[in-house]
Amino acid sequence: MISNVIKNNIRVFITTTNRENIIGLLRQPHFWGVVFVYCLVLGIFMSNSLYLIIWTTFVNAMVPSSFIHDLQLILFIIPVVYASYIFKIRGALIALLVLLVFVLPQPPFFPSESYSFIKNVVFVIAFIAAGVFIALQREIREKDTIIRTQLEATCQVYLSQLIRAQEEERHRIAQELHDDTIQSLVVIGSMAQSLIDENDTQDNNKRIMVDIRDSIKRVTEDISRISKRLRPSILDMMGLVAAVRWLATQVQKSSGVKVEVNIRGDERRMNAESEVMVFRIIQEALNNIRKHSKASLANIVMQFAAHKLIVEISDNGSGFDLTDYGGGVNVGKLGLAGMQHRANLLAGNLEISSEPGKGSRIRLETGTE
Ligand SMILES: Nc1ncnc2c1ncn2[C@@H]1O[C@H](COP(=O)(O)OP(=O)(O)OP(=O)(O)O)[C@@H](O)[C@H]1O
Ligand SMILES: [Mg+2]
Repeated sequence: MISNVIKNNIRVFITTTNRENIIGLLRQPHFWGVVFVYCLVLGIFMSNSLYLIIWTTFVNAMVPSSFIHDLQLILFIIPVVYASYIFKIRGALIALLVLLVFVLPQPPFFPSESYSFIKNVVFVIAFIAAGVFIALQREIREKDTIIRTQLEATCQVYLSQLIRAQEEERHRIAQELHDDTIQSLVVIGSMAQSLIDENDTQDNNKRIMVDIRDSIKRVTEDISRISKRLRPSILDMMGLVAAVRWLATQVQKSSGVKVEVNIRGDERRMNAESEVMVFRIIQEALNNIRKHSKASLANIVMQFAAHKLIVEISDNGSGFDLTDYGGGVNVGKLGLAGMQHRANLLAGNLEISSEPGKGSRIRLETGTE
């Protein structure tokens, strides 16, 4: 596997080394960083001949003379590791070439008594092994990151499809309940009514008919409520603001939390899909207020600014610790995560802020075009 990675890199290196790549390489600050470090180490390596006074004085004072050559060789690990880390296998290969040219042969400037070919070979092999190891580690980690990013992207796509499919399904069920089921019940109800209205019906039968009629009325109301909750027709017919006002009234009636709606700016309609997304975010925020907040007051502000809509839903309830919520989806809580995802689908921005005892605030900002 490792030999394959190296072989591939050599192939890519040879086949893609064209003018653009070389120019691209020359533009990278890290390339010049590597060159600089290499020059520095080479300068130190050649200090005997170049008379780098400071280095020579420092080394002579600190290191026994028999180790000076080894120490200077060891310094080559710095550019090798640097090049391998930044440019991965290619960097390791280039570092190898430089080492082969400068370090392995007996340089004319190096005193022959301290030169050992075998030792140099051992050092070069060790450095290259280190370089290749680092480069491979980096390559494997990068591949992992790419795979993880692709997986996350796939998850996002599935989530979007799920949300859209769920919305279509709700729409379809709401419409069927409204158009078919409720209409049939209305017909049955009016048949019961006409039986009640007939004079010759006996008292007992008449009482049963009244019960049937009342039951049908209750079922009709229940189904109508479910249908509206699934997809309020007011949203499609009269738009987001009307639907939000309707929703606020429903929540107020069913929960006792006072819900205020403030509209600012020039109210206008958005495309149907965006209106449903914004509506669902507000709906979930109000659901959470009703279920968790113990608030007495909730406030919805919808501000229509130029090209964008800002929605803020706040409450004066118990608030919550956002760090506790961390596990969201993993512990089966989909509300806040779904809001965030819908905001992403809108290419908008959603901020959730809350602190225990200080209520909570959801702020959505999205384009209106
Ligand atoms: N307005 C709020 N006031 C107080 N706590 C809240 C509020 N909104 C959310 N929370 C807290 O954040 C948690 C996560 O909310 P979320 O909507 O994701 O899940 P849920 O409402 O518990 O379940 P689901 O929405 O999936 O039915 C809630 O369980 C609650 O503890
Ligand atoms: Mg919720």
